Amino acid sequence: MKRTLGVCYYPEHWPEAQWSTDASQMVAAGLTWVRIGEFGWSRMEPSPGQLNWNWLDRAIDVLGKAGLKIILGTPTATPPRWMIDKHPDMLAVDADGRTRKFGSRRHYDFSHLGYREECKRIAQLMGERYGRNPHIAAWQIDNEYDCHETTLSYSNAARHGFQDWLAQKYQSPDALNRAWGNVFWSMEYDSFDQVDLPNLTVTEANHPHQLAFRRYSSDQVVAFNKLQAVELRKHSDAPLIHNYMGRITAFDHWKVGADLDIASWDSYPIGFLSDRLEGSPAFKQAYLRQGHPDNQAFHHDLYRAVGKGRLWVMEQQPGPVNWAPYNPAPLPGMVRLWTWEAFAHGAETVCYFRWRQAPFAQEQLHAGLLRPDSAPAPALAEARQVADEIASLPHVGTAKAQAALVFDYESAWGWDAQPQGADFEMFRLAFAAYCGLRRAGLNIDILPPETADLSGYKLVLAPGIMSLSDPLRAALARFEGTALLGPRTDTKTPELSIPTSLGPNLDGLDITVALTESLPPDDGIAWQNGGRFLHWFEHLEGTAEIFAKTQSGQPAIMGKPQVRYLAGWPDDATFDQIIRSLCEEHGIEITELREGLRIRDTETHRFIFNYANHPLTWNGTQIPAAGVYWEPLS
Ligand code: GAL
Repeated sequence: MKRTLGVCYYPEHWPEAQWSTDASQMVAAGLTWVRIGEFGWSRMEPSPGQLNWNWLDRAIDVLGKAGLKIILGTPTATPPRWMIDKHPDMLAVDADGRTRKFGSRRHYDFSHLGYREECKRIAQLMGERYGRNPHIAAWQIDNEYDCHETTLSYSNAARHGFQDWLAQKYQSPDALNRAWGNVFWSMEYDSFDQVDLPNLTVTEANHPHQLAFRRYSSDQVVAFNKLQAVELRKHSDAPLIHNYMGRITAFDHWKVGADLDIASWDSYPIGFLSDRLEGSPAFKQAYLRQGHPDNQAFHHDLYRAVGKGRLWVMEQQPGPVNWAPYNPAPLPGMVRLWTWEAFAHGAETVCYFRWRQAPFAQEQLHAGLLRPDSAPAPALAEARQVADEIASLPHVGTAKAQAALVFDYESAWGWDAQPQGADFEMFRLAFAAYCGLRRAGLNIDILPPETADLSGYKLVLAPGIMSLSDPLRAALARFEGTALLGPRTDTKTPELSIPTSLGPNLDGLDITVALTESLPPDDGIAWQNGGRFLHWFEHLEGTAEIFAKTQSGQPAIMGKPQVRYLAGWPDDATFDQIIRSLCEEHGIEITELREGLRIRDTETHRFIFNYANHPLTWNGTQIPAAGVYWEPLS
């Protein structure tokens, strides 16, 4: 498939006389796609029911006739001010009970059925008007679910919705009481309308109560998205997309993805490194202008799976952003590197955010491809270069990986409710495992928790999966490679209690987690022959084979050749050792990579990315800082 580039554009921000120049410059820059509309509701419907499509008709016409394909966004992340007068209780409420006010964006509550109807209506109107427009080649629904932590709302709408959801799920208050263990601390309920949201309790709310609210809230995101998807599909055959974010586990992306055609995400590598990822000060300094060398890859692989094979980057950082604590500029070359890395991981399209830097409002200091005075910003030339390179390397097919990682959102909610150690978090654990695989030079697929078929993989990692699904359990029983489960895998019931037969309950394997410990960051548990657990350690018992021990002789890895259980959270060097020895057992080729280099194989080529801020040599070829190099696979 030919890879393409695009850009995010806001015709409503610029004088109409400028649109056609912008459009022709986009085409000249080698861009194929332009995304518009996603924040434009106040201009589409200036007052209730009074629709003004004229400007959007003309914008679509100008951009489309210039040769651009349009991704049209539904504007539901930014309801206009009149909407709040119409539905005063549609605003979300934070965990402290404070209403989140109008004046920025995402000011809505997923549980508010009146607002949902408004979103359905605008999606229907847009579908009717533009569904058969030849220039509309894709749709984006809403914008970045959960951005600004907007999945959870502690509103009355949420409380009523939650109570109905509980009544449907548990059928009787008794069943709910039993499932949650409400006899503890006399928390029993007589009716569903007594169940409040799990905020503002005196001390922590019961964990299954918290988990149920997370499940309910995720279901509201799924339903909200689906409502618009159904409307748009009535009128358009163009693919439906949402732009997910990085490190967001607040809703189940697998379930939202099931209703869409393509998964896209918004990649801001430098903002992420400074704001959202762990790392020592030295590490963060070394990658200050490049971003974490594994973060983009992780999300490409995750969303390629969420998109059932179809991945885009809907927003690519082009220069300094405005929202992280510090906002340095990328090293020259990084915009090109990030773009090629996305392609190598299967992205069909990469769109830059945004065309021209806005001289007004919240994102004035966020770079675009053009400066506010319309002169080219540094990223424009890099985008142009990629466009030229695509022409010479048109086919970048996605190769099957030998290694896989299972990723589960429900487990993330379970561990958020019951971390047991201050730094235990699902994303962080899964990402640590992913980074280990990637440092070994492997291609990695990320799999949903209901995966029923592992054949084709030699190595599967499933850390922190709270309770194994039946299909995955059955797939593990048949698996011929090695699956490394744990820590914390299959140690809880779906209601977040300890199973009667202590977990993990793995077919034919006698392994029991007898005791769990969490550890402060500077403490660890040493292995017998080198290596260390950090954060988390489980005391394992049972008769299964012991593959590795701690210094004090406790099992560190137990199981059978095909299914093994890891007793704790290994530090990076230990993850490297474990992965390397498993690769050797299975004849998986490991590539020794200098710090800063990463690779990714496509069907035909090996891509080498230099994330370091200095040149590095790869097989005799010098790759400059922020350089990308590719060679045909032999
Ligand atoms: C994204 C968002 C965009 C823009 C961008 C700035 O989170 O979707 O609308 O705000 O960040 O980096």
